[in-house]
Amino acid sequence: MLDPDRLPRHVAIIMDGNGRWAKQRGLPRVYGHKKGAEVVKKIVQKTRSLGIPYLTLYAFSKENWQRPEKEKKFLFSLLKEYLKKEVPELRQQEIRLKVIGDREDFSQDIQEMLEWAEKETEKGKKLTLCLALSYGGRAEILRAVRLICGEVKKGKLDPSEIKEELFRKFLYTADMPDPDLLIRTSGEMRISNFLIFQMAYTEFYFTPVYWPDFTEEEYIKALEDFQRRERRFGRINEF
Ligand code: IPE
Ligand code: IPE
Ligand code: MG
Repeated sequence: MLDPDRLPRHVAIIMDGNGRWAKQRGLPRVYGHKKGAEVVKKIVQKTRSLGIPYLTLYAFSKENWQRPEKEKKFLFSLLKEYLKKEVPELRQQEIRLKVIGDREDFSQDIQEMLEWAEKETEKGKKLTLCLALSYGGRAEILRAVRLICGEVKKGKLDPSEIKEELFRKFLYTADMPDPDLLIRTSGEMRISNFLIFQMAYTEFYFTPVYWPDFTEEEYIKALEDFQRRERRFGRINEF
């Protein structure tokens, strides 16, 4: 039983467990990624139909560059395939695609595709689907610091002006609210360098289900759990 008036504005998901899902079935890890990409489509649709305006998916971390070449190659071809097939659909459904992370780490053709995908869907008002690619929270914070130092050096900014609101403008997520709810699948209970600045007051939900097995029902369960939480933000509950 979901209360439509108390839905999160922003859900972030660490889609984890693809490799273990495949291994459990005696399959190569990449099969898990393939199945995982299908789950993405379903969860995006559900998010849109619920009217949640922001969804951020952790698709590839800065640290994931340390994976074997073969696996990375497969993941990137899956990404290209997803974009090619889904972008026209996203555009039609008024879903805006946004990429966060160090996109310059990717090959030219992927960078161009990301540009194209964002441009094609830029008018989408129903949902912002944010893909975290070559994303790391520490790298994002350091990048913001570098950019701010550049502004200070040019004399455009005084250090006394560096407050939280200003700092946020230099993050990849500048135009988005902080996540209200983080979901991590696969039973791991850590944030693995995901949105570490933005998740200071996010509610965490962990499930042992591997990402390829994650369903709409599991998603609803997480949202129901979220609605039972009492968010205090350091205050006291006066009721
Ligand atoms: C998540 O699944 C997908 C990516 C990190 C790209 P994993 O590939 O991490 O799967 P496990 O955690 O090894 O099972
Ligand atoms: C986090 O999962 C990154 C993504 C889901 C893209 P990992 O599988 O890379 O995280 P660790 O290594 O278990 O912390
Ligand atoms: Mg993992």
